[in-house]
Amino acid sequence: MKKISIALDGYSSTGKSTMAKWLAKELGYGYVDTGAMYRAVTLYGLRNGMISDGCVDQEALIAALPQVSITFAPSDDGRNETYLNGENVEGEIRGMEVSSCVSAVAAIGAVRRHLVALQQAMGRDGGIVMDGRDIGTVVLPDAELKVFVTASAEVRARRRYDELRAKGDTTTTFDEVLANVTERDRIDTTREESPLRQAPDALVLDNSHLTIDEQNAWLLARAREAINRSL
Ligand code: DC
Repeated sequence: MKKISIALDGYSSTGKSTMAKWLAKELGYGYVDTGAMYRAVTLYGLRNGMISDGCVDQEALIAALPQVSITFAPSDDGRNETYLNGENVEGEIRGMEVSSCVSAVAAIGAVRRHLVALQQAMGRDGGIVMDGRDIGTVVLPDAELKVFVTASAEVRARRRYDELRAKGDTTTTFDEVLANVTERDRIDTTREESPLRQAPDALVLDNSHLTIDEQNAWLLARAREAINRSL
């Protein structure tokens, strides 16, 4: 059976990654979390003194890109985890420090071009579910299925807040998380380089009021239709 490419784009904390991972497993496809790649570059910059007080030394970060290797490998329980130069950074890239700076890093054209080329190489043979912001518009413009996922900022902040709590973060407040979500939306949609946009041929999924099972069922049905169309 032909293996298609599936692009999932949308706002932060819409549960895109969870959905994309689930769909990839269901279809036996590969999965690429492109946000994790921007987060890994951000962590590299933070660790190497190229980002401080939210300010990015763009020249130094761009010059260092060839030394930044980002790979994915499954953990013992089968979850896809992110490695930065061979080190598992899955936990660290999800923390508030990286979350607060990642939009600034993702707005740098040279960083985007570097990561887009890596993502296109990963998606070259199809059989892939990729999630991000520019997958349907820039990375995989010929993807057979494009989905744009959205939900209200409050619903997304609540999900992110609960996630942080579950991971043991007891200091970050809901208002801080909401401010971070809103600020990231603003930067992601207004940046000059590949702003977050719905591809004209994308299907919209607003999951503000859907259960995980409902959204998964919707997504799998759309994927099956797209696979049948491409036969
Ligand atoms: O999906 P996420 O929250 O892990 O993404 C982290 C940041 O990276 C977010 O600010 C948007 C940005 N990003 C992007 O610009 N393009 C992508 N393809 C994926 C993420």
